[in-house]
Amino acid sequence: MIPRVKGTQDFIDCTLFNFIIDAIKKQCATYHFTEIQTPILESVDLFHRSLGIYTDVVSKEMFIIESRQSSFAKASEDREGDEDRICLRPEGTAPTVRAFNEHHIQTIPWKVFSYGPMFRYERPQKGRFRQFHQVTMEIIGSGSVGEDVQFITMLDRFFHETLHINSYALVINFLGCTQDRQAYLEILKKFMDSPAVTEKICAQCTERKKHNIMRIFDCKNPQCQEIYRNAPHIADNLCAECATEWQTLQKQLTLLSVSHVYRPTLVRGLDYYNKTVFEFVSKNLGAQDTFCGGGRYNQLVKQLGNKDDMPAIGAAFGMERLMLLLEPLRDQLNIPHPPALHMIIPMAPAQHTTALLLGDELRAHNICTDILFEGSMKSMMRKASKSGAAYALIIGETEQQSRTVMIKNMTTGTEQSVAQIDVVAMLKK
Ligand code: HAM
Repeated sequence: MIPRVKGTQDFIDCTLFNFIIDAIKKQCATYHFTEIQTPILESVDLFHRSLGIYTDVVSKEMFIIESRQSSFAKASEDREGDEDRICLRPEGTAPTVRAFNEHHIQTIPWKVFSYGPMFRYERPQKGRFRQFHQVTMEIIGSGSVGEDVQFITMLDRFFHETLHINSYALVINFLGCTQDRQAYLEILKKFMDSPAVTEKICAQCTERKKHNIMRIFDCKNPQCQEIYRNAPHIADNLCAECATEWQTLQKQLTLLSVSHVYRPTLVRGLDYYNKTVFEFVSKNLGAQDTFCGGGRYNQLVKQLGNKDDMPAIGAAFGMERLMLLLEPLRDQLNIPHPPALHMIIPMAPAQHTTALLLGDELRAHNICTDILFEGSMKSMMRKASKSGAAYALIIGETEQQSRTVMIKNMTTGTEQSVAQIDVVAMLKK
């Protein structure tokens, strides 16, 4: 047996997955988002330029595909081949921005969502996969803090009111504008350069200090965490305009009854963020406790080639983590039941044609129908019962000759002989 690839999953039952997708589609439509789809394959360069080369996703976790073109380029030492390198997308924001730029979208703000598989070469554990699914929602072309509030409210209402999840917290932070960030990086560097800090932090933090200093706050090492308790926070070092936006954000979220907690160390793992950042976290998930994350990325659209600056905000939630949270709440969700199954049982091959014709007729009237072609009467009845059939429609030699069907109600066990031309009318009653 060849097993599935490490870090991937089979969905044998897609009910919950499809329920979430249907629900978020409705929620997004209500908030004036439209659906888009972008390819799973993108150029490596897109993520180098957007997520940043020192982020974990780009430096360690990319699934890069050795395409025919790039191996040919390598063989012929053609350096241009490197620019054509392709990968399996690790996230959906950069592809959405690429699509926005490439299609010269003029309808602004552009509010779109998409969903599908993402790929990161991470160490698999509970809630962490190498192929996982995200729903990505992006708003390109609006810089107002009101947009942030409306967007975060949409997500909070979705998790809380539509999906009935109570066991989560919304954590928020404000990373300021480019100038704030530059100034803060100097302040943080000064703190990190003090011997009391340099000598005590772990090797990973020493490395992050060089290339991606704000990510030190994500370190799980208790000694490092203790040290960073005294670190300066970016939200305390904002310019006047950003400080006002940060206050407005918190005030308006409170007004809309969106509970939130300020987490000064929340920096998010990707380079493109500024100003508002947020995560929805749940203790019920274990170590991988974030099921949705996002924030503003006001520079990314220009950085990826647009001639104009275009403020933007977005978020993505992970389907696998959301499903982990929802599994115990299944009964509270309005998951639609599958339609009642009608199982046709021809007793011998001589009745197969009649069974096929009857099945065709039933399906034309949207009656969920299947036919069992193999096995003894007893084993076919057992199969019908195991597959949860509501009715068995038995056709033996007698029924074939008299143009009737024996309809057995699988719940009550009652049987009734019905003329074949009356079956649909009887079942539709
Ligand atoms: P992210 O925080 O990297 O953000 O991922 C968003 C969500 O995807 C996470 O909160 C988690 O639920 C899920 N996720 C990430 N990695 C894995 C994994 N290995 N296994 C299972 N689930 C995972 C982004 O991707 C940004 N593009 C979000 C965004 C959109 N920001 C602005 N717009």
